[in-house]
Amino acid sequence: MPTFAFHTYGCQMNVRESEAAAKALLDAGHTPAADEESADIVIVNSCSVRGKAEDKALGKLGLLCATKRERPNRVIGLMGCMAQRLGNDIFKKIPTLDFSIGTRCADRVAPAVEAALQGSATLAMKDLHEQPDAPSGHVYQGGFSAFVTILLGCNRRCAYCIVPDVRGDEWSRPARDVLKEVRELAANGVKEVTLLGQSIMNYGLRTPAFDELDPPSPGGYTLPFPRLLEAVAAIDGIERIRFTSGHPSGVTDELIRLYREEPKLCHHLHLPVQSGSTGVLSRMRRGYTRERYLEAVKRLREAVPDIAVTTDVIVGFPGETEADFEETRTMMAEAGFDNAFIFKYSPRPGTVSATWEDDVSDAEKARRNQVLLGDQDVRGAQINQALIGQTVEVLAEGPSLRNKARWSGRTSSNKIVIFTPPERIQPGDIVSLTIAKAAPQTLYAE
Ligand code: 5AD
Ligand code: SF4
Repeated sequence: MPTFAFHTYGCQMNVRESEAAAKALLDAGHTPAADEESADIVIVNSCSVRGKAEDKALGKLGLLCATKRERPNRVIGLMGCMAQRLGNDIFKKIPTLDFSIGTRCADRVAPAVEAALQGSATLAMKDLHEQPDAPSGHVYQGGFSAFVTILLGCNRRCAYCIVPDVRGDEWSRPARDVLKEVRELAANGVKEVTLLGQSIMNYGLRTPAFDELDPPSPGGYTLPFPRLLEAVAAIDGIERIRFTSGHPSGVTDELIRLYREEPKLCHHLHLPVQSGSTGVLSRMRRGYTRERYLEAVKRLREAVPDIAVTTDVIVGFPGETEADFEETRTMMAEAGFDNAFIFKYSPRPGTVSATWEDDVSDAEKARRNQVLLGDQDVRGAQINQALIGQTVEVLAEGPSLRNKARWSGRTSSNKIVIFTPPERIQPGDIVSLTIAKAAPQTLYAE
């Protein structure tokens, strides 16, 4: 049987969907390739969130399809957000592509591979207003950590964001499906689950599927997000629960109580802020002010002092002035982020902000990006320095990439710790370590 490999761009949602598609290929009798170069079937899973992400996937597909000149039986396919956005146009750009499969139909990858092996091309797209299936198959390779998609799509419609167009309407999976999946993961040795959803704290808002399972309650929620977290935490074998991404509107007293009282819920929250200027936030249609965001972080930190808060920031949004940018700098200092991902604004076709002038020059976006990264480096170093001497619980992941004699693992707050492994350690073990040294992104322990 031909061998396959995936090349995945973008977010954890894509990593998860590549895994579900890989499981379907395994079930169909295909084997994973040792590497991409030797693979007979290569599938690129794409991201559309920035122009650059699409350029990378297109470049990769061009190179892969060029290898078909020497290897005419090689199958090259595309899936994910860019496939969804471009539809049939992808075949105009790359005529030798074997298949293109949009979002919400990772289950179409295996049939498309079969069709390609028989010599026919496939274009598969779903109606993104219809009730979708969530990716459910997992590949078990002795891993202790897994992603579980609980919320598909997004209804928020931030002015800059392509996600609602390529991933469709927001839809919560029935809780019983989620819990069944987590139970199966636990039975296969998984100890850590990361629940995924673009705007995950909206989990449990009414959907047709919920109405069928359980008639609507007057409050409008059947199963609020904190209840689902509790139900996942009740599953034996699961030791750590993470989720991403958050929104300040979901930082409720209920969620904060869970952070304090549910030992399995990791002390980390990824809470994208995007800007520190209320004017910019309002034009981004984020649904909160600078003050409201900071207040959410403050309430969290007061209740859970060791929680790590990480964020995403966009620099150079249309109309972002030097004063707006300075507000982002001061807000980041005030929030004391443990880590931050900084992105240069990229206009996306069909979004609201793409109709506005992209008036911050590329050089200025690059400068603002560098300034924020520099600030974050100093802040990350200070925050991590303060951890020296503290004892933390680390979930061991395996030998470190740089130095095989040392292992790496993560704290509950999602910080990477490099340590000398005790005897008989196994990946997935939780070890207690005292931090000896700190760098901006990494901690070290004996
Ligand atoms: N340009 C730049 N960055 C963007 N993001 C989303 N859309 C855009 C865009 N058009 C960033 C946001 C989001 C992260 C996943 O990508 O910061 O949180
Ligand atoms: Fe995009 Fe906003 Fe949805 Fe996040 S919440 S995916 S930024 S539209």
